[in-house]
Amino acid sequence: MKILKNDIFIKACKRKPVERTPIWVMRQAGRYLPEYREIRKKYDFLTMCKTPELASEVTIQPVNLINIDAAILFSDILVIPEAMGLELKILENKGPVFLNPVRDKNDFLNLKKINPFKDLKYVLDSITITKNILNGEVPLIGFSGSPWTLLTYMIEGGSSKNFGKVKKLIYDEPDFAHLILDFLADAVTDYLNAKIETGVDAVQIFDTWGGILSPDMFNEFSLNYIKKIISGIKIKDKPVIVFSKGAYFALENIAESGADVIGLDWTSDIGNVRKRIGEKAALQGNLDPAVLYASIDKIRKEASKIIDSFGYGSGHIFNLGHGIHPDTNPDNLKELVRFVKQYSVKYHKSEN
Ligand code: CP3
Repeated sequence: MKILKNDIFIKACKRKPVERTPIWVMRQAGRYLPEYREIRKKYDFLTMCKTPELASEVTIQPVNLINIDAAILFSDILVIPEAMGLELKILENKGPVFLNPVRDKNDFLNLKKINPFKDLKYVLDSITITKNILNGEVPLIGFSGSPWTLLTYMIEGGSSKNFGKVKKLIYDEPDFAHLILDFLADAVTDYLNAKIETGVDAVQIFDTWGGILSPDMFNEFSLNYIKKIISGIKIKDKPVIVFSKGAYFALENIAESGADVIGLDWTSDIGNVRKRIGEKAALQGNLDPAVLYASIDKIRKEASKIIDSFGYGSGHIFNLGHGIHPDTNPDNLKELVRFVKQYSVKYHKSEN
């Protein structure tokens, strides 16, 4: 095992002392980078995900170009349902679509139980290659969608405005929904265990659509399965991050899930959240990605507000409150990273 040269992201996840606040951003490997678009011109998105050399190249781009403190493996949450047999198309400007979504028990019974070492071997190969090229420079984050978020795509057949089909399912046929969610939770557990065994340094569970549920439905249909996954992770010392977008009402419950880090979107004040759950978990976030459209002065001001609000001590990983927008100027992100690294030092002085 290579020793990490920069491990402040890992230390902050465990709320250990650091000399400054670490920063990475969701969707940092992507279309806002001209260097990504250059490769993407030649290959479609899924080919890039499935070709380990290409996936590792774009994973590493933001490390070298933006000086970020952690890499996140280039892939997609939808590779799991695809491996189960749903045919996935990523349409230009429309997003992902499943041609044969799950609509009844028969469709569910046709889903394949996956073995990540076989069916998602290309992801594990990408991890091995990326770890080799990174050579301990920064940690590598692996990720999965939460069972609930995967279910929304598998039932709706793609992105959705009101989530009518998946909501009808949980209201009218909750037992059937639980059957699929349980099946997905087992697959995600195996997948994250395989990623950790192969060498990722931390994992993030993206629960992008957690916040469309009412508080009790969130506990029943999303958080329960996230808990099941976390308790099924075999190697316990790799940080687990849970990002449930829009689920500000459930932060106390999420903090009881066993997660080391709770991801926040930009609708909550990080200092207030720290008072509520800062003793239980580290916090990740939470700059509105649209701030990166603003002037450099405004970007620095908004970033400093978040760092000031969190205050003294470790346990904060700076990030955006959701993925970076594809039309962001990369120079603005680069300046954000430089600024956070410099400005946050004063909040960590007494720790070292
Ligand atoms: O963070 C990273 O840099 C790693 C890469 C990553 C991608 N998708 C690459 C991607 C990660 C972590 C994801 C997760 C993902 N995928 C989520 C959860 C996080 C979130 O943003 O809420 C979701 C909901 C998906 C499903 C998905 N994949 C959507 C909705 C889309 C289309 C949206 C869009 O931006 O066009 C994708 C495609 C996708 N995944 C792209 C990238 C870089 C764009 C594909 C392209 O190059 O054309």
